[in-house]
Amino acid sequence: MKKVILAYSGGLDTSVAIKWLKDKGFEVICCMVDMGQVKDFSAAKKKAVKIGASKVYIIDASDEFVNDYIFPALKANAAYEDKYFLATALSRPLIAEKLVEIAKKEKAQFIAHGCTGKGNDQVRLEASSLILGKDLKIIAPLREWNFASRESEIKYAKMHNIPVEATKKSPYSLDVNLWGISIECGVLEDPAVEPPEDAYQITKSPKDAPNTPAYVKIEFKKGIPVAINNKKYSGIGLINKLTDIGAKHGVGRSDMVENRLVGIKSREIYEAPAATILHAAHKELEALVLDRELLHFKKGIEQKYSELVYYGLWHSPLKSALDSFINKTQDKVSGEVTLKLYKGSCSVVSRKSPHSLYSEELATYSSKDKFDKKLAEGFIKIWAMPYKSR
Ligand code: ARG
Repeated sequence: MKKVILAYSGGLDTSVAIKWLKDKGFEVICCMVDMGQVKDFSAAKKKAVKIGASKVYIIDASDEFVNDYIFPALKANAAYEDKYFLATALSRPLIAEKLVEIAKKEKAQFIAHGCTGKGNDQVRLEASSLILGKDLKIIAPLREWNFASRESEIKYAKMHNIPVEATKKSPYSLDVNLWGISIECGVLEDPAVEPPEDAYQITKSPKDAPNTPAYVKIEFKKGIPVAINNKKYSGIGLINKLTDIGAKHGVGRSDMVENRLVGIKSREIYEAPAATILHAAHKELEALVLDRELLHFKKGIEQKYSELVYYGLWHSPLKSALDSFINKTQDKVSGEVTLKLYKGSCSVVSRKSPHSLYSEELATYSSKDKFDKKLAEGFIKIWAMPYKSR
């Protein structure tokens, strides 16, 4: 029998996909990848088996997600179009890795997923799967089946005894993991409409956030955050902690119109408190310890890096070469940054590093000044010379 490994979420689409694939003659093995999305995996597993999956793998990949995906992206200050910290985009190549691993183990020839036919995720999952498991074939049920509407899909599900959640489905499409939440659809599809409060899943509205600010001091070692307010944390623990504090203070919301890889513009809102705080802190530390040329050059690399992640080219030679460059830039990115979280804002108030390139003696306007102003005159003359002789 043909075997297919299905990336299963437990939701309606991938549940219907189990039945649909079985009807096409496949043995369906489900795979769920835990990346900190706080979900009842055992209930989902039962559901998949009930619908007809022959086996369900639940893989805890949270540690890998943090160390091999989130932190490298943080070192690269990766944010697509400056606003999206790529929570969803970073998770897809990792899901693909797991699907390919299981396909090899189970000697399956097919991989299936529940991505829609007009999003970025289909590209990311399939590109990584094809790169890592080059003989695998991909099935994308949602691109093939012809339900006219969600209602007809629900009707099909009920007809085939596929459990449909009784709870009213959120009007939004959500993608959740440790690094952030992506929220689209419903009223958000009109970019002129302000996101209603109920669209936000974890962050407090800044107007209801505490009246006293929270101060968080983050310690970095070679670009990686290791402690909050002098307390050491694991990667997962640190991200969870910052998510909680940030969300409480209304930090981490963004609302954007983005350019999808498939050519359309879409409107999506994001909640990523930990990413927002860590990006602000990490960039600030770099401002202190990297020289001007390296810092400016790195910015260009960061934009390319973000695009590669967004475009599903995580598993590409360019991305891997950029990682080597970025890692090299992080040698001196150690130190502490303190941020103030207050009613939706997250501002750096203090930075410190043993590798700081800031020299008070050179910067000061007081009598301690050591900057040789006489040198400035000659410097400026030579600086302007090529333009003057034109
Ligand atoms: N626009 C984001 C991306 O392409 C998120 C896509 C998934 N969003 C969702 N709400 N399911 O990475």
